[in-house]
Amino acid sequence: METELLTSNDIKRAGALLRAGEVVAFPTETVYGLGADATNEAAVKKVFTAKGRPADNPLIMTIADEKQLHDFVLVSEAARQLMTAFWPGSLTIILPIKPEKVAMIVTGGLQTVAFRLPDNDVARAVIRDAGVPIVGPSANTSGKPSPTTAQHVWHDMSGKIAAIVDDGPTQIGVESTVIDMSSNVPTILRPGAVTQQQLQDVLGVTVIDATSTTSVASDVTPKAPGMKYRHYAPDKRVVMFDRLDAIDLMHSLQTHDVVMAQDTTIEVMKLSLEQSWSLGETLENATEQLFAGLRFYDDEVQVATIYVEKMSPIGIGKAFNNRLAKAAGNQEFNL
Ligand code: TXA
Ligand code: MG
Repeated sequence: METELLTSNDIKRAGALLRAGEVVAFPTETVYGLGADATNEAAVKKVFTAKGRPADNPLIMTIADEKQLHDFVLVSEAARQLMTAFWPGSLTIILPIKPEKVAMIVTGGLQTVAFRLPDNDVARAVIRDAGVPIVGPSANTSGKPSPTTAQHVWHDMSGKIAAIVDDGPTQIGVESTVIDMSSNVPTILRPGAVTQQQLQDVLGVTVIDATSTTSVASDVTPKAPGMKYRHYAPDKRVVMFDRLDAIDLMHSLQTHDVVMAQDTTIEVMKLSLEQSWSLGETLENATEQLFAGLRFYDDEVQVATIYVEKMSPIGIGKAFNNRLAKAAGNQEFNL
């Protein structure tokens, strides 16, 4: 299959391909997604095939308007408050399904389904043109870091999907916060740009963060099925390090090692341009750059180990550290 490269001028082409049951990668404010008509089982199957995704890992349904929800799910008052506060935006909300309204292939057999309304005009225009909700998992090969540019999508998906809509680099750089609103206790299953505090402020009740333990213990079954797979991981060895250990790390770096760190840390460690990937100066810069740096070094044959600086666990820093810990398989630098 020859993958077409589209732009925001080709919304109608993207919509037509989706209606025809084809897979089209689309931009969002978090990472690029892999779109297909969520009401067409054959189309959804193609998404699992293109990603190499296990069939028990459910997909997010991506919509352009809240009214697209009501055919599929029951919306509680609390869920509605979240939508008003955070949509369009980086919050995926898990809701109970109306019986027999969503295909098994989308939900992986669960009685719930995840919905997201992205803060990206091109994404919403494509979905409106398609006229149906589209599934929208991240547009990477299963297990690899999510794509933050159309070039990343091309790297993983060219020849496997009908088209990619290029809208430049994504702004946030990690996937949306996932909150389970299908039970009595609102629970965060994946940290993202929308924080626990922000959610609690809107809901006025305690929100559990099921991801807040620092290690991702393998004997605990995560509630988001996707979180049990080795995720966001390049083939290269990834090790996280603390800023306080920067000097020790500098002295133990080997010739083929590289470092991803904030600018001040790169200066302290006296790293050359070839040895380092800048995570900028803010938590937001760092989060936007994480997957791009991992992907870049993964393709550099001579690189041995990628050391990545941990961020302060505040705001989006939690999401950064969560994705980094997965990429590193929890390996930390210790002398
Ligand atoms: O930012 C995002 O959310 C991106 C962009 C493209 O929208 N999409 C994304 O989708 O990250 P995906 O499929 O790569 O990750 C969705 C996560 C997976 O870990 C999946 O297991 C979980 O959400 N999930 C989906 N439906 C669920 C459900 N009904 N119950 C529990 N977890 C669910
Ligand atoms: Mg994903």
